[in-house]
Amino acid sequence: MTKPFHILGIETSCDETAAAVVRAKNGKVSVAANIVSSQIATHAQWGGVVPNIAAREHVARIVPVLSQACAKAGIAMHDIDLIAVTSGPGLIQALLVGVNAATTLSYVWRKPLIGVHHIAGHIYASFINKNFRSGKDAAEFPTLCLVVSGGHTQLVLMKKHDAYTILGETQDDAAGEAFDKVARILGLPYPGGPMIAAEASKAKDHRERYRLSLPRPMIASGDYNFSFSGLKTAVLYAVKKFRAENALSDTASLPKEFVRAMAREFQQAVVDVLIAKTCAAVKKHHPRTVLLAGGVAANTALRHQLAQNIKKEFPSVRCTIPSLRYTTDNAAMIAVAGYVQWQNFSAQRRKDALSAWRTLSANANLPLS
Ligand code: KG4
Ligand code: ZN
Repeated sequence: MTKPFHILGIETSCDETAAAVVRAKNGKVSVAANIVSSQIATHAQWGGVVPNIAAREHVARIVPVLSQACAKAGIAMHDIDLIAVTSGPGLIQALLVGVNAATTLSYVWRKPLIGVHHIAGHIYASFINKNFRSGKDAAEFPTLCLVVSGGHTQLVLMKKHDAYTILGETQDDAAGEAFDKVARILGLPYPGGPMIAAEASKAKDHRERYRLSLPRPMIASGDYNFSFSGLKTAVLYAVKKFRAENALSDTASLPKEFVRAMAREFQQAVVDVLIAKTCAAVKKHHPRTVLLAGGVAANTALRHQLAQNIKKEFPSVRCTIPSLRYTTDNAAMIAVAGYVQWQNFSAQRRKDALSAWRTLSANANLPLS
């Protein structure tokens, strides 16, 4: 029996203050505690995340969240083997709070410290509570990752653990950002993604009645890039036209049926583009696994349709979808991604990680590869 290895994960890149304790034993990583303190209610009144308010909230929440994670896991300082923290990308004011907490704990507790890329965290969310080195759940390479979050939309190819090649990415808005902005146009509260999904699920087929037909931007561009800002503008113009035709003022609420139909058409436009580009990348790069990652991976339509399409078009390719609770920002995914890095470290790099508190800094634009 090998001794369990405990990783303390810390995540503060946007509007969730999160800490987790992940236990690695005999190749399997399992979550001992996963605390997420969401600031959604605080930012909702502003219609989106306000960076300085996020930073202030992280400062107020980080110590209680860390204490709660350690208490829930029943773990003391001496049991922690590694500290992993999101060092970028994200809001710099927000990242700094987590990085400062992690560097302080690393120095005081004399524990090794690793900086984790936020998107690597989202990708490794799929391996939480699994054995990713061997057995039926083990990662199979090449793995093609469809990363869809509030800040990123990328197709990333992995040929081995912790090695990332970006095949393409959004040229403007990220998919989640587009969901949030379209929700605003439709008068739905922040965060828009879950609201659009909920409204879309209630839509009757009113595309005909409202003549809704949004573009599928860049669907046939022949590359792996995306663009969602024009789609958002198309929704804006369709809403303006609807208001004009129905003598509705700019501030009058839109009829429920129209909102639902538009939410459904918008969601389907995003899902169509994401799936078409992913399938094109599968044809070219022949991955053994397609892996979905990021906050928009919580979207039921995307989860189902991606899995169905991969199964139908590429029956030998595995489709890995993270469990719902680990799709949006959390620290368990950061702990797992940190542990993967740690496993690849040489003895010297492991030693250096003990003094990484001196040098680790937050980087709002940290590159993935
Ligand atoms: O990954 P995440 O938690 O934060 C970033 O790293 O950005 O993603 C948050 C994004 C938000 O834009 C949110 O609206 C979107 O994920 N999201 C969804 C759903 N749940 C969250 N988008 C579509 N459908 C959902 N069910
Ligand atoms: Zn995220």
